[in-house]
Amino acid sequence: MSNTTPVRTVIVGCGMIAAGGYQPRCQAYPHRIELVGYYDKDEARATALAETSGGRIYKSLEEVLNDANVEAIVNLTIHISHYPVSLAALKAGKHVYSEKPIAIRTDEANELVETAEAMRLKLACAPSAILGYVQQNVWKRIRKGEIGEVISAIGNFGGPLEHWHPNADAFLMHAGPFRDVAPYPLTAMTTMIAPVKTVHGFARIAVPKRTLHQGPRKGTEFEVTEKDHGFAVLEFENGAHGLIYHSFTVASGIPPYEIHGTEGGFSLQAHDDGRGIQKFTPENQWTDEDSPPKAYTGLDWGKGVADFADAIRNNRAPRCNGAQARHALEVCERIIESSDLSRPVDVVSRFPAPPPVGDIAPWDES
Ligand SMILES: NC(=O)c1ccc[n+]([C@@H]2O[C@H](COP(=O)([O-])OP(=O)(O)OC[C@H]3O[C@@H](n4cnc5c(N)ncnc54)[C@H](O)[C@@H]3O)[C@@H](O)[C@H]2O)c1
Repeated sequence: MSNTTPVRTVIVGCGMIAAGGYQPRCQAYPHRIELVGYYDKDEARATALAETSGGRIYKSLEEVLNDANVEAIVNLTIHISHYPVSLAALKAGKHVYSEKPIAIRTDEANELVETAEAMRLKLACAPSAILGYVQQNVWKRIRKGEIGEVISAIGNFGGPLEHWHPNADAFLMHAGPFRDVAPYPLTAMTTMIAPVKTVHGFARIAVPKRTLHQGPRKGTEFEVTEKDHGFAVLEFENGAHGLIYHSFTVASGIPPYEIHGTEGGFSLQAHDDGRGIQKFTPENQWTDEDSPPKAYTGLDWGKGVADFADAIRNNRAPRCNGAQARHALEVCERIIESSDLSRPVDVVSRFPAPPPVGDIAPWDES
């Protein structure tokens, strides 16, 4: 089989991000990804995606996993389903690209990473923002020493989810803002700086009773069971420090991602949307820069899947690697543990450093 044959892929979990993000952006890379079908436990959702551009509607996960035509799944189910769906797929011999978090608990993530290795399959996980031209541009300039020695970073992502997401209850009952959105700055920081060595977390359930404000279940009240507000101080392996703020209660004005060096700093978005960069220098303070060439001005959910597909065909590690996602999850788990214990906690997992994207990207047509 040719190295450039698109990977025959099924989307499992056909909700908001599948419909609005992954389906259109995977279709933007048809030379890498062929969406051959859809499965959701709510069949109407799979049907809606298949109706837009064809593809098989699967009636069960087993039907997907028993289909020899399927090489890979993109797991866009809800957080608590990531681990069982990904594990079943890996055990059935399918490559897996998962939305974040890779699992709810680190021991589950360990099992996924080990199963993928034992089965010689690729395991990749969102967020893929680090593959964006903006992020790659900033990372390259940091490696070249443009801001001197990296000394710290700040990350922020969140907001009152129940005001825009129709299934916000699942996010607040099983994941919380740390597992759900902290992977954005953590993936950027652990790529551009180093793995996290120690965390000191401060988190709480701030608003325990909430009501859905959107969707068919609007008005439904629910009990928050995961910490919905907090921050953490991070110590990276190279001695740099970080601060992350994540809340489904109050959105902060802190920039999504800032990285500081002895000679300057960069500020950028958490997503791969192609928007421009701000740079700090002692002479000019913060100034806006133009986006680098080829930057996409929308949210690109497809690049990570295209890189994963290229990794399958060329038998290399995907850049958005499951082992790094496991590290991000462990950082979040340790933050909650540290908060409960009122003391810093060490993070033990590590991961192979992802390589930068070269001049010809894995998703470029070749
Ligand atoms: N909505 C966003 O803006 C957004 C952005 C980035 C990442 N994500 C991530 O994507 C994932 C999905 O989020 P969403 O917003 O699309 O949620 P959603 O609730 O809209 O969709 C999830 C879908 O998964 C299906 N599902 C759940 N368990 C399943 C199972 N075991 N088998 C088959 N289908 C199953 C549900 O029926 C639902 O259709 C989450 O992990 C979330 O963190 C969402």
